[in-house]
Amino acid sequence: MIITPISNALGAEISEIDLSVRLSNNQTGKLYDAFLKYCVLFFREHSLSATQVLEFSKTFGAPAIYPFIQGLPEVPEVIEIIKTETDESNFGGSWHSDTSYMHRPAKATLLYAKEVPDFGGDTLFCNTNMAYEQLSEGMKKLLSDLSGVNSSEKGYQGGRATGMNKLNAMKGTYKKEAKSFESEHPVIRTHPDTGKKSLYINKSHTYRFKNMSEEESTPLINYLCDHMIKPEFTCRFRWREGSLAIWDNRTTLHNAINDYQKKRRHMQRITIEGCTPR
Ligand code: SIN
Repeated sequence: MIITPISNALGAEISEIDLSVRLSNNQTGKLYDAFLKYCVLFFREHSLSATQVLEFSKTFGAPAIYPFIQGLPEVPEVIEIIKTETDESNFGGSWHSDTSYMHRPAKATLLYAKEVPDFGGDTLFCNTNMAYEQLSEGMKKLLSDLSGVNSSEKGYQGGRATGMNKLNAMKGTYKKEAKSFESEHPVIRTHPDTGKKSLYINKSHTYRFKNMSEEESTPLINYLCDHMIKPEFTCRFRWREGSLAIWDNRTTLHNAINDYQKKRRHMQRITIEGCTPR
C-alpha cells in the first residue's frame, strides 16, 4: 500500500491496494492510521459492487442507515446520490459536516463514483483542527463555552423534502416518514481517537449558539465558517469513475461543487455511525 499526501492540510491518495477483497489486519490498521492522520483518504480505479463498498466501509466503523434517503433494496446502508442533466441543484453543495444535526452525527462518510462528468463536480474538504489551531488564544477561550444549535432544515426553504424532491433521480428515494432533527454540540469538539480539538460548526446546519439569538450568533458563525475554508486548510478532489473517498466528519467539512450543469454525476454513499460530540 502506498500513501501519497495531496495537500499540506489534509487528504492522501492510497494506491497499490485491492478494495474488492477482504483486507488483512495489517492493511486495516495502516488505513485507519492514515484516516486519522490525513482526515480524508482517496482511492482510484476500483470496480466495486455495492456490497463490496459496504464491506470496505466497515474498516472505519459500523455502517449507518441515512435518515432521509432510502438505500438500495439489497444494501440499505448504500444511498445513491444522482444529479441528472436536467437538475440544477445538487446534493451536499455547501460546506458541512454530515448529519451534524443528529445527537450522534456520522463519524465518517464514504463516497464511491459510478459516473462523473468529464470535468466539474469535484469535492472540496477542509481541516477543522488546523483551522482551530490557527485561532487566537482569546477566540479559543471565547468558543470553549459555546454550543452550536444544528438543524436538518437550515437552508431548505419549504422544508428538506421539497429541496430533495427537486433532484429528478432522487425524488422517489426521499423517505416519506423522515422527520427533522435538531441537536446542540460543542463548538470545539475533541476527537475521540486523536484527542485533537476541532471547530465543529458549519453554515449549512448551525443556525445559532445555545442561549443566543440567531441575530447575535450569525456574525460569529459566519466568521468561523469563512475562517475554516481558507485555501491553506483545504484540499480538492477530482473524481474519476471508480474513485472512492472516505472522510472523517469529526475534523473536516466538505462541499460538493455544483459546476457541471447539463451533465450527469452518480455516486454511492455510506455514512458510518458516530458518537456524541464532546
Ligand atoms: C455529500 O455531501 O455527502 C456529497 C458530497 C459529494 O457529492 O461530493
